[in-house]
Amino acid sequence: SAPTQDELKAQVGRAALDYVVKGEIIGVGTGSTVNKFIEALAGIKDQIRGAVSSSEASTERLKALGIEVFDSNAVEELAVYIDGADEIDGRGYMIKGGGAALTREKIVAAQSRRFVCIADASKLVNTLGAFPLPVEVVPMAARRVMRQFARLGGLAQVREKDGAPLVTDNGQHIIDVTGLRITDPLGFEAEVNQWPGVVEVGVFAHQRASVCLLATSSGVRTMRF
Ligand code: A5P
Repeated sequence: SAPTQDELKAQVGRAALDYVVKGEIIGVGTGSTVNKFIEALAGIKDQIRGAVSSSEASTERLKALGIEVFDSNAVEELAVYIDGADEIDGRGYMIKGGGAALTREKIVAAQSRRFVCIADASKLVNTLGAFPLPVEVVPMAARRVMRQFARLGGLAQVREKDGAPLVTDNGQHIIDVTGLRITDPLGFEAEVNQWPGVVEVGVFAHQRASVCLLATSSGVRTMRF
């Protein structure tokens, strides 16, 4: 029978172990696919020095398994960052932030020599933008940023949790934007990131993937960019 999505995520989670550099501190992302990677990492935890994490959620999981978590300011360059994506295209450009952790994810990605993206085949797209684009904003700028997106043809909404705006690990809000077709990810990322009040946009173009391990029903496919 065909593997379930959960099994596909577990497959790429294990496959990512091949990219873990022994004796090093590993950059670890956020999400259900990364949770599978963290489970697999537990089996080789004595071979690494520890991790830098992109969210409180991943930090908790890493610590529960006895993996030391370092502050990103306490370490310099990381050899590898392993994280999922909401969408990835054929050039390694991604949309991330479905889990609201995009700002810390981009910071750890920028600190890392290689970004290894782990995803199931449903995440591969031709053009970014079908997945609602997450953007972290300072709350007082939310409405203006939403109007800016409307000018680009996007429809933006403040992400909510339990009937109130979701508050990120950084104390900010997230807006999700539908209706965009992001044909120039590098230019788009640069433009949106200079709007006042935008903390970080969920397009990862300057911090694109170096490798994508894509789980398909016929096995793990490796894409290099
Ligand atoms: C977290 O903020 C996101 O960028 C995740 O990397 C993304 O949502 C992928 O999550 P799943 O592995 O749960 O699909």
